[in-house]
Amino acid sequence: MNGTISSYGRVIGIGSYLPEKILTNDDLAKIVETNDEWITERTGIKERHISDPDKDTSESMAIEAARRAVADSGIDPLKIGLVIVACTTPNVLFPVLSASVQAAVDADNAMCFDVNAACPGFLHAFVTAQNYLRSGMVEYALVVGTENLSNYMDFTDRSTCILFGDGAGACVLQAQKDLSYDAIMRAAGKRSECMHCESYMQKGKEKTPEFLKSNYIQMDGQTVFKFAVTEVPKVIEDLLSRTGTSADEIDYFILHQANRRIIESVAKRLKQPIEKFPMNIAKTGNTSSASIPILLDEMKKDGLLGEGKKKVILSSFGAGLLWGAIQTEI
Ligand code: UT7
Repeated sequence: MNGTISSYGRVIGIGSYLPEKILTNDDLAKIVETNDEWITERTGIKERHISDPDKDTSESMAIEAARRAVADSGIDPLKIGLVIVACTTPNVLFPVLSASVQAAVDADNAMCFDVNAACPGFLHAFVTAQNYLRSGMVEYALVVGTENLSNYMDFTDRSTCILFGDGAGACVLQAQKDLSYDAIMRAAGKRSECMHCESYMQKGKEKTPEFLKSNYIQMDGQTVFKFAVTEVPKVIEDLLSRTGTSADEIDYFILHQANRRIIESVAKRLKQPIEKFPMNIAKTGNTSSASIPILLDEMKKDGLLGEGKKKVILSSFGAGLLWGAIQTEI
């Protein structure tokens, strides 16, 4: 127990897992009417990792990413007081994925729960963990984002199947004093119709072709695009204004990897160089709630988070509609 009010969680360990199998744009061009040039130009995606049905589940990927994050942190897993897994595509409804992760990493003293907040799920888990850490209720937390989106892809629909990939990422947070942190999370449930995926198991629902189609991710891409390029810069600007920070002082804007053009548009609106917006979308596609921790892991391995504290903004958006931004130091 830490017991100190106003300690926030600093990321002290990061891990990720990406399935071995890679699906390139050329591979997709053999399945649907598309081509590498269109996908690259409109999205920035060249390839994505796709789960192996014999090996990878949202649960197994979460476990692997969590193991790597705990190993990276170097802490005794018995110190972890909280495990939260963000997932929209779980392979089991219960036991919750966070309990499986707890067991696998031997975090036997941790409380566990999952959150489903679509693509910004990792941010919601991170913000929730911060509140537990800040209150002093726990000193260490493990936060995971994991998605097996290819299970929910209609590989006859070229407007969606080119966008998404599978994977998981995880962070260990430790309550520390003298760490800046703030967040703004927003939702617009009244604008939910542009992204939809119906649950298969519903009493009384006839398994008509129309219903079966609705069990795959359905999206009005242009509406989501417009929402993202409008609301993401706005929430970042509002957060910077609240924390009294200028965008120039931020080292990295770590954005949900959904579309390169969305990230470029946000950079332009914030009048910041694109180099401050790390990207791995070309190789991962959109991995929903896993995208930010996977990117953080890559940044750490590339030495971008190495020396001293870096001032960062994490920001994401997705179905709900939900979006938000976190400002902290990593
Ligand atoms: O985590 C949040 C998840 N969602 C998102 O981030 C989605 C945000 N939206 C987007 O990223 C973009 O809207 C897409 C990449 C989905 C689509 O790009 P767009 O520039 O908005 O294309 P569009 O939907 O306006 O379609 C333009 C054209 C259409 O043809 P016509 O009607 O102009 O002849 C489409 O039929 O491109 C066609 N098209 C394709 N062509 C080749 C749509 N998908 C493809 C494709 N390959 N895969």
